[in-house]
Amino acid sequence: MTFPNAAAAGARAGIASPGAVGEGFPATLTVHRDFAIGALDRRLFGAFVEHLGRCVYTGIFEPGHPTADEQGFRGDVKALVKELGVTLVRYPGGNFMSGYDWEDGVGPRDQRPRRLDLAWYSTETNQVGTNEFMAWCEELGLSPMFGVNLGTRGMDDARRYLEYCCHPGGTELSDRRRAHGVEPPHRIPLWCLGNEMDGPWQIGRKTPDEYGRLAQETAKLMRMLQPGIELAACGSSAFDMATYGEWEDRVLSHCHDEVDFVSLHSYFVKPFAPDGVLPPGADTSTESFFAQIETNARYIEATVAIADAVAARRRSKKRLMLSFDEWNVWYRARHGHHLKQDGWPEAPRLLEEVYTVEDALLVGGMLCMLMNHADRVKVACLAQLVNVIAPIMTEPGGPAWRQTIFWPFALASRFGRGTVLRPSIASPTYPHVKEGELPYLVASVVWNEDDGTLAVFALNRHLAAPMDLAVALQGLGGDAGLALGEAWELHDLDLHATNTVDLPDRFQPRALGGICVDGDTLRATLRPASWNVIVLRPR
Ligand code: AHR
Repeated sequence: MTFPNAAAAGARAGIASPGAVGEGFPATLTVHRDFAIGALDRRLFGAFVEHLGRCVYTGIFEPGHPTADEQGFRGDVKALVKELGVTLVRYPGGNFMSGYDWEDGVGPRDQRPRRLDLAWYSTETNQVGTNEFMAWCEELGLSPMFGVNLGTRGMDDARRYLEYCCHPGGTELSDRRRAHGVEPPHRIPLWCLGNEMDGPWQIGRKTPDEYGRLAQETAKLMRMLQPGIELAACGSSAFDMATYGEWEDRVLSHCHDEVDFVSLHSYFVKPFAPDGVLPPGADTSTESFFAQIETNARYIEATVAIADAVAARRRSKKRLMLSFDEWNVWYRARHGHHLKQDGWPEAPRLLEEVYTVEDALLVGGMLCMLMNHADRVKVACLAQLVNVIAPIMTEPGGPAWRQTIFWPFALASRFGRGTVLRPSIASPTYPHVKEGELPYLVASVVWNEDDGTLAVFALNRHLAAPMDLAVALQGLGGDAGLALGEAWELHDLDLHATNTVDLPDRFQPRALGGICVDGDTLRATLRPASWNVIVLRPR
């Protein structure tokens, strides 16, 4: 990852230089090497590519773009995906998946049908399908997480898709893949059994009993073909769905023994009115916005409780893991022409949320929270990857750039390797009407036993005061102890600042100074409204 002349960019943007902070308030974070939450699964740094808007077409794929490769994939986007540190990509949807016929997207491109995509009111050209997407993943070293259509299709189609993709050869479907130029079978270790099957908007929505039985039987069939695959059942499409809880309980009462994961989806919102007129009393404060970190922690913990209750009823020792396979901020580009455009356009501009500094800080805090649930959350996908509620934006024929939210993700993926330690936090708090007293400090700590490095990720949620952070490092670093490796901060005096095509580097990491490591204590001053990562290495 390169941080291009960060200090100069900050100065150009009129950002105060590091060190220009006032009196801090104290906060402490204590970790002990032996008190671990769990191994951090690198699949926590997943993302999502859906055939939606411009995520695929003019996003990852644009033949004729000056940087396009022979397949038509944009080279500038590939470079940014690598820099982002994505490990896994979910594909091909989303809502799109529930109406998708995978056979439309394989074989000679000039014979592929144009279809109406009823999820997003667009025309799908099918110029990118399974084999092109897999080639792109392989080149970038990404692990694919595919989904099967349990909306308009069903278990037999899931079996046929799996056989086409993953059976070595000697059958009609696997030989069809080989005839399409893909000799060795694809490696697709993880599959979603449908998408958001509880949602009224979903094509082929099901009741929990209908879906639970279908997921169970589809899982059985897919496993007969490929015993080693992992499977994710759909949980609710949001924590605030009226049927949340009951859905998980009913669905898992059918398919608990056949699946490995239950999914969670969450989009973080703020009261927002397209016409600018908010209802009286709407709470648009940043402090409330940041409280969604705790709301999502409760969502995880409640889902674990339900999955474990299902296991307990069955006297089962099995523990389902969670796949948080859609998460991000999404509230501005969520109405009218952002969701639907007339005339069945190809690759319309849908869900093109422009992210702010405030959003980046919440994404950073969410990453800490996800890491702190590493014992049960083994897969997570930032939704999505390019153009559609995305960290990477592109212009057709033009440049690609990083949105604000690119940075916390890139830094967390770069340094989040190893075992997550249990953080004990003592911090002043602020009240939130739903979540109670919230500590200004949100933090996670990851210990990499392989190279002895320790990464401290910390969000200061105080909007006006710097935080004097002391981190007690117990049992870490051996006799020689730890020393500062590198440290980065994400901060901007303007919480509404954005990165745009004209000013793509307005917001980017800057080196965090003034850090002291004294024996077993790390001290740092964190600016108000800042997300930080401090990396210690063995002396
Ligand atoms: O990510 C955008 C959409 O949000 C997905 O298609 C769907 O699964 C969710 O509702």
